[in-house]
Amino acid sequence: GAVELGPYRHYMQKEIFEQPRAIADTLEGVQSVVPELFDGVEGDAAWRVFKEIDEVLILACGTSYYSGCTAKYWIEGLAGIRCNVEVASEYRYRKSVPNPRALVVTISQSGETADTLAALRHAQGLGMTNTLTICNVATSAMVRECKLSYITRAGMEIGVASTKAFTTQLAGLFLLTLALGQSKGHITEAQSDAYLEKMRHLPLALQAVLALEPQVVSWAEDFARKENALFLGRGIHYPIALEGALKLKEISYIHAEAYPAGELKHGPLALVDSEMPVVTVAPNDELLEKLKSNMQEVRARGGVLYVLADAHTNIENAEGMHVIRMPEHYGVLSPILHVVPLQLLSYHTAVARGTDVDKPRNLAKSVTVE
Ligand code: G6P
Repeated sequence: GAVELGPYRHYMQKEIFEQPRAIADTLEGVQSVVPELFDGVEGDAAWRVFKEIDEVLILACGTSYYSGCTAKYWIEGLAGIRCNVEVASEYRYRKSVPNPRALVVTISQSGETADTLAALRHAQGLGMTNTLTICNVATSAMVRECKLSYITRAGMEIGVASTKAFTTQLAGLFLLTLALGQSKGHITEAQSDAYLEKMRHLPLALQAVLALEPQVVSWAEDFARKENALFLGRGIHYPIALEGALKLKEISYIHAEAYPAGELKHGPLALVDSEMPVVTVAPNDELLEKLKSNMQEVRARGGVLYVLADAHTNIENAEGMHVIRMPEHYGVLSPILHVVPLQLLSYHTAVARGTDVDKPRNLAKSVTVE
C-alpha cells in the first residue's frame, strides 16, 4: 500500500504512535486563534457565523461522537455556550426543536459517514444554515456541504479503530472552543494565547505518555483473559472512559461498558467481582476525591482496579490496585493525553488475543450506507 507499516506490527499501533506528529501538524500554521481558521472552502466567513450563533449542536457517530461529547465540556465550560451532542442516526429520525441560531458541528474522520451526512442535511432542512465540520478529509462530502470547516491533519488513517483522528479532532474542537469563546467575550485574547501555548506542548506530553507502553502491555496480559471490563471516569473524562470501552469492544471483542463513576451505585456495582477489571481515569482534578470513594466501592466488592493517575494524584499501587502514573497534569487538555493509554490497552489486549486488529470482524472503516 501507499502507507508503509515501518517498524510497527499493525497500522493501529503505527497510528497511535503518530499522534504527537498528527497534533503538531494540526497546529502547524496556527499562529493565533482567529475565526479565519474555520472559514469555509467556498470562502464563507466564520467570524460572521460565530457572532450570530447562540448554541452549538454536535452531530457524529462512533469515536467521532465521543470527541463531540468531550468538546461539550469545553464549549459550555470555557466558551460559555450551550452545547448539545447527538448521535447522528438518532438525531435524523427524531422530532427535535430546531434553533435557527445554532451552530451545527459535524465531526467525521472520513467525511463520508452516511448517518452523519443525513443528520447534517436533516438539520439544514430544519432551517439551520450555520454548519461547520471538523473533518480529516478535505475533499469529502462533509466539507463540501458545510459552510465552515476545520481540516485535521491526522493523515490517512487505515486501522478501522480510530485513534489519531480522535485526538486531532479534540485539538480542532479545542481551537473551536477558543474561537467561539473569544467571539462571545468569554475568553480573552491573552487567555486564548496561553491555551494555544499549552497545546503546543501536547506533542511532547504525548511522547511521554507513549513511553508508558510497557506498563500498559502488562495490564493487557490481565485483560486478555477477561470477558468483561468496566471503565469509569468523571466529568470531562467520562467520554474518555466511553472511548476506552469502545476501543476494547471493537478490536478485542471483550464486552466493555463505561459509566460516569457517580452512577456506579445505581447499577453496575452489582456486576463487580474479582473477574471484573475496572479501569479508572483518575486525573488530579476537582472530582478526584469523589472518584476515590467510587474506587473504594469497587475494592470493597473484590473488583480489581486499573488506574490512570497523573502527577500529584496520591493513589499508589496496592493489592488489587494497579496504577499507571501519567507524566503530568494537563488541566482542561488532559482528555487528549488520557485516551492514549486506553488505545494502547485495547491494542495490546487484542494482540494478546490474536484478533485481526486492523480489520475487526463485522466493522468497516467508513460506513457509507445506512
Ligand atoms: C465507523 C468506524 C469508527 C468511526 C465511525 C465514524 O464506525 O469504524 O472508527 O468512529 O465510523 O466515522 P467517521 O469517519 O464519521 O468519523
